[in-house]
Amino acid sequence: MPAFEDVADGLTMPLVDAMESQRAVRRLRKDPVDDETVLRCLELATRAPSPSNSQSWEFVVVRDPDVKHQLARLNRQAWSVYRRLGGLTGGVKEHQKIVDAVQWQADHFEEVPVVIVACLRGARPWLPPVASGSYYGGAYPAVQNLLLAARALGLGAALTTLPLWSTLLARRTLGLPWNVNPIAVIPLGWPEGKYGPTTRRPVREVTHLDRFGNLAYLAE
Ligand SMILES: Cc1cc2nc3c(=O)[nH]c(=O)nc-3n(C[C@H](O)[C@H](O)[C@H](O)COP(=O)(O)O)c2cc1C
Repeated sequence: MPAFEDVADGLTMPLVDAMESQRAVRRLRKDPVDDETVLRCLELATRAPSPSNSQSWEFVVVRDPDVKHQLARLNRQAWSVYRRLGGLTGGVKEHQKIVDAVQWQADHFEEVPVVIVACLRGARPWLPPVASGSYYGGAYPAVQNLLLAARALGLGAALTTLPLWSTLLARRTLGLPWNVNPIAVIPLGWPEGKYGPTTRRPVREVTHLDRFGNLAYLAE
């Protein structure tokens, strides 16, 4: 198992390489990931911006097999419903790959060496869109930083939300107080395979000039 000092140099990788190759890596080895590595990832996660610099994030690092098992159960429950409802049909080749990987993760969730649950302190607003937008925005930049740090260190990680289908059950599993909401679950470990190229829509197809619908960059 690599220790932090064995992989720390990875953090000097060019940012563009990390961004272009970071992807959902769900097939993970059982080998442990040391606390120093996890804490460095979280340290970089907490460099992220947050509304009014509130930094209301909290992270639960799950290593306990019982807690992992409860999260695994929640994940499997949500996945079996999602899969049956056809959220990912498996008809398309690209989708089939994701289905297989998500299924693998569901089947092996308990074996993942460490699972990080990103949480936000403060009641979840259901009022004006500006409040709810910045509420979730208080967590996701940090989560993305975490994913990039993991990538640079050679760790596999995937952002998941299926284990959080019931905030009540997730909160009970993790012992979260009423005012701490779980936002994302990130299983973390050394990858079975390699990072691959990601499939994304071309930037010119999704970029509008001044007003929505003016796909000016597409025409160039
Ligand atoms: C908000 C959000 C929720 C997600 N939830 C899950 C999830 O519950 N389970 C899962 O396996 N992947 C989940 N993903 C990962 C996406 O499936 C993944 O980012 C997407 O398919 C692109 O994959 P790639 O980065 O490997 O190309 C989630 C991603 C985001 C941004």
